[in-house]
Amino acid sequence: MAFLSAFSIFLLFSSSLFCLSESHGRGKGGGGGVVPGQREFDYFLLSLQWPGTICHNTRHCCAKNGCCRSSATAEFTIHGLWTDYNDGTWPSCCGDHQFDIKEVTPLLEGLQKYWPSYSCGSTSTCHGGRGLFWAHEWEKHGTCSYPVFKDEYNYFLATINLYLKYNITEILIENGYVPSNTEKYPLGGIVSAIQNAVRATPQLECRNGAVEELHLCFYKNFEPRDCVTKGNSLTSKACPRYVSLPEFVPSNVLSTSVPWLPSTEAL
Ligand SMILES: *[C@@H]1O[C@H](CO)[C@@H](O)[C@H](O)[C@H]1NC(C)=O
Repeated sequence: MAFLSAFSIFLLFSSSLFCLSESHGRGKGGGGGVVPGQREFDYFLLSLQWPGTICHNTRHCCAKNGCCRSSATAEFTIHGLWTDYNDGTWPSCCGDHQFDIKEVTPLLEGLQKYWPSYSCGSTSTCHGGRGLFWAHEWEKHGTCSYPVFKDEYNYFLATINLYLKYNITEILIENGYVPSNTEKYPLGGIVSAIQNAVRATPQLECRNGAVEELHLCFYKNFEPRDCVTKGNSLTSKACPRYVSLPEFVPSNVLSTSVPWLPSTEAL
């Protein structure tokens, strides 16, 4: 696999010494207290987003908002590759390596296709600024993936490769969990289908009974492992026993003749 080269060379010096720990923006009750002298992370969490749920209430459209892509299919997209601790907390904003779009130029097509932002606004970054969704993900989480990843390019490349390797949308469809605005599916069935295909337990998050996020967890060598659930043994947050997997309905405010991909300058 191409991404293996990303961590073939390990440095002895760990930049994670400079990590500051803080809360994720990923929801309440997650953890992440302030820990001085941040240690190296324990495992990776690949967070996926379900556009059919996220885009449900989109009001404002612009070129960079993935909810506005008329060509979009109902497929999970990448939210981020996060670095977590086994105790349910996580490091964030490690080091001062600011996002540089030029470093990921060869990956832009994949990033735009598989890792869209679902808003028109800019996102907070780690140094008091605001920027692209990708800048937020890199600075807040990617910088903490050291020493597995020592640069932005390899972090984004590996994340895309991981996403392509585990096509969760396909796994669900093959098991009869087809995107629908009328059906509801048993949460346990969805979890089992993924367990059988991936050989590890995922985590789901819902909004109003609809699947919004799906997490897959990996050891540092990218072998799948169970996701950590804190407190109780639930594999889901806010998901009822029967969940929906809404179809993607493009907000379609933009004309189809407007290319979705923004020019690099517009970024
Ligand atoms: C995932 O699988 C679905 C359903 O088979 C397919 O339409 C889609 O192109 C696949 N996605 C990727 C990124 O390969």
